[in-house]
Amino acid sequence: MERELALEFVRVTEAAALSAGRLMGKGDKEAADQAAVDAMRSVFDTVHIDGTVVIGEGEMDEAPMLFIGEKVGTGVEPCVDVAVDPLEGTNLVAKGLPNALSVVAVAPRGCLLHAPDIYMEKIAVGPRAKGCINLDAPVRENLRAVARALNKSVGDLTAIILDRPRHAGIIEEIRATGARVKLISDGDVSAAIATALEDTGVDILFGTGGAPEGVIAAAALKCLGGELQGRLKPDGEEETGRVRRMGLGDENKLLFLDDLVAGDDIFFAATGITDGDMLRGVRYLGQTAQTHSLVMRGITGTVRNITATHYLAKKPRFVARKPRCQD
Ligand code: FBP
Repeated sequence: MERELALEFVRVTEAAALSAGRLMGKGDKEAADQAAVDAMRSVFDTVHIDGTVVIGEGEMDEAPMLFIGEKVGTGVEPCVDVAVDPLEGTNLVAKGLPNALSVVAVAPRGCLLHAPDIYMEKIAVGPRAKGCINLDAPVRENLRAVARALNKSVGDLTAIILDRPRHAGIIEEIRATGARVKLISDGDVSAAIATALEDTGVDILFGTGGAPEGVIAAAALKCLGGELQGRLKPDGEEETGRVRRMGLGDENKLLFLDDLVAGDDIFFAATGITDGDMLRGVRYLGQTAQTHSLVMRGITGTVRNITATHYLAKKPRFVARKPRCQD
């Protein structure tokens, strides 16, 4: 994929963030999600890719836009898999809480795991602790290994985890080691990425969240040189059947970064909707609005922080570009 595409993917997440941000704190997560989806979908039409949504808003019969299998882009090469979460943290926007994002991950066709919308157990760390974690090891062993890699004591580590009853046991185990715990109400994509960004103060992610979010976070961590391991957690026969149909073989397989996202030719873009640990939320300033985004490229590991000012009155905001010349 050409490097110029990075800016195109940022436009896509910016558009979603600008639309969803208007609904911050309004208590309507569906409306916020819809606003993000509509805006993201329309900007994808201007991007020069032959994209297929492999992680999106749901199956074709349940999601009118950005459904799994939907084609996005102008239809010219490169042929790519697209994973989208136009609004990651619908409750966060509805309640005006931190760390809601709009995210996109893109890789050559066949390189993103087509994870169904079920749960995935996850563990993630940043580059300095890469190679030290094991989803199957006890919590205390992972914490000891990460502490060694980061040259700190276990008591100085911060583990981040979704605040859910299903995590009561893990939280107890983390606390028993003396490590610090950051409980979050939603948003384990930004939590996983935070482990790879020094100034967030977060060292390791534990816990079970969405499988699609696991693949998206894995794309970001690959660009950042971190690590994420996951295991799908199908609930009941129907979900187990869906996992088996993916052709993964054993549905209990431990999934490493390369199983989730193959290769390094990856783009990941995210724009903040509400203020968060790594991104500022959208600011509406009358005639203009400001967005803050991150875009990363796996091949080079480049991470760009992009602050943009958008002139809201200028219409049309998004103009479809002409398809490329064929000769
Ligand atoms: P939505 O944006 O779809 O609301 O997802 C938010 C989220 O917190 C994800 O970050 C996380 O992976 C998942 O939900 C956890 O699911 P649950 O709320 O069922 O525990």
